[in-house]
Amino acid sequence: MCLEGLEPASRGVYYIVLKAVWSLEKSRFVDLRSRKEPVFLHLPLSSSFQKLSESLAVNFRMRLAVVVCALALSAATFALDNGLMRTPPMGWLAWERFRCDIDCEHDPKNCISENLFIDMADRLSEDGWRELGYVYINIDDCWSSMDRDKQGRLQADPKRFPGGIPKLSRYLHDRGLKLGIYGDMGTHTCGGYPGTTLDKIELDAQTFADWEVDMFKFDGCYSNATEQEQGYPRMSKALNATGRPIGYSCSWPAYQGGLPPKVNYTQLGEICNLWRNYGDIQDSWDSIMNIANWFFENQDVLVPAAGPGRWNDPDMLVIGDFGLSMDQSRAQMALWAIMAAPLFMSNDLRTISSGARAILQNKMAISINQDPMGVQGRRIVKEKSGIEVFLRPLSKNASALVFFSRRNDMPYRYQTSLSKLNYTTGSYKIYDVFTEKTTALKDSTDFVVSVNPTGVVMWYVSAPAKLSLRQFYAGGKLRGPADYRHDNAIPPSFL
Ligand code: GLA
Repeated sequence: MCLEGLEPASRGVYYIVLKAVWSLEKSRFVDLRSRKEPVFLHLPLSSSFQKLSESLAVNFRMRLAVVVCALALSAATFALDNGLMRTPPMGWLAWERFRCDIDCEHDPKNCISENLFIDMADRLSEDGWRELGYVYINIDDCWSSMDRDKQGRLQADPKRFPGGIPKLSRYLHDRGLKLGIYGDMGTHTCGGYPGTTLDKIELDAQTFADWEVDMFKFDGCYSNATEQEQGYPRMSKALNATGRPIGYSCSWPAYQGGLPPKVNYTQLGEICNLWRNYGDIQDSWDSIMNIANWFFENQDVLVPAAGPGRWNDPDMLVIGDFGLSMDQSRAQMALWAIMAAPLFMSNDLRTISSGARAILQNKMAISINQDPMGVQGRRIVKEKSGIEVFLRPLSKNASALVFFSRRNDMPYRYQTSLSKLNYTTGSYKIYDVFTEKTTALKDSTDFVVSVNPTGVVMWYVSAPAKLSLRQFYAGGKLRGPADYRHDNAIPPSFL
């Protein structure tokens, strides 16, 4: 609309200029919005903008038009620059452990009701979880009434949520926690509750904002590919338009096979903060392996898609449930940290064992997962013996290594060296994430790690004490984490 009446060639130039103007202005827009100020009316012209517009020799009215056009275009091209989830979100999610148990009469402690979420919020805030970053409490399917209200809005089941969703969000916010909720792009949710058809998108987004919800998972049952193609971007815009920061989790790619050409990861990064790429996790080692296999087999597609504010989601942590041994629990924690995965536990925090809690509360595993550079790690070695090695580049020129065993006989003594794993010359400090022991290691020294069956050894590797020129200088310029921030590439020192 803004470019109507221009020659096609000048349209292209104007479009590029407008996009450039907007990209200079949008960070200010996001900051302002998170401070809840009326943005569009008070936005002063920044010096960057002034220079650009002066060089275009336009008068004030023209400049105003440019701002309006830039903002309008931004809605189409930068739909989800909401500044949220710069590191993978962490919290608790009801689905895997509590499913669609709505029998509050016979199973009051475990049914999907406000009591369950209040119990979990109490545990997050009183048992040390919140301080470690686990701040989201996410409602999943089966929370709503079977009918919309008279104004057509979704409403919580009145028996199971007598205080409605606003009561829950207040309860959580009072404790420094955040609330997530679930909906479905389609006629029904996967559990058969009312879905969000295309005509209901804006209404439902506004309802969640009115309830002061902080995150929204948009599932995709009962819709076709065309509806999803329209619905997921539209929900992104609708959430943004409410003015409330709401993290947006899209199940879209999982319904389209998770891979290009059906899935466009560039677009997903622009409209969603995280996305489910693959099938549902279950409480079993088979399920963990099935998911991990798919994510690492497709790492060339998935790794570049991830970064601050945009994450691949291999689904919940099932540590603390019934299906995993302690070794397998450490393996899930380690692999999810390497993958920069969202860490949503789905377990019963009221009865969790101290062993499972120690794994989920491991500070170094969490800080690796939460590394601010936001580069997703990769599998770098796959041995015939069943040993695999994973590496994630971290800020401060550090890295995380995971040695994983697919074997089922006995602990395997795997021998290698840092230089065999493509580390450059130097002496590195190694911190073992689960034994908490520290050692020093030269790149050239062979070492042995003993990896339990279906278990891991996980290391945080500090930058070498002696810096090698090869590591820090590339193309004649000093390299550091900042150089990797934009292209999301593996630092050359690790290639
Ligand atoms: C789908 C999703 C799950 C869960 C259920 C709820 O299967 O992938 O994560 O939300 O629906 O019905």
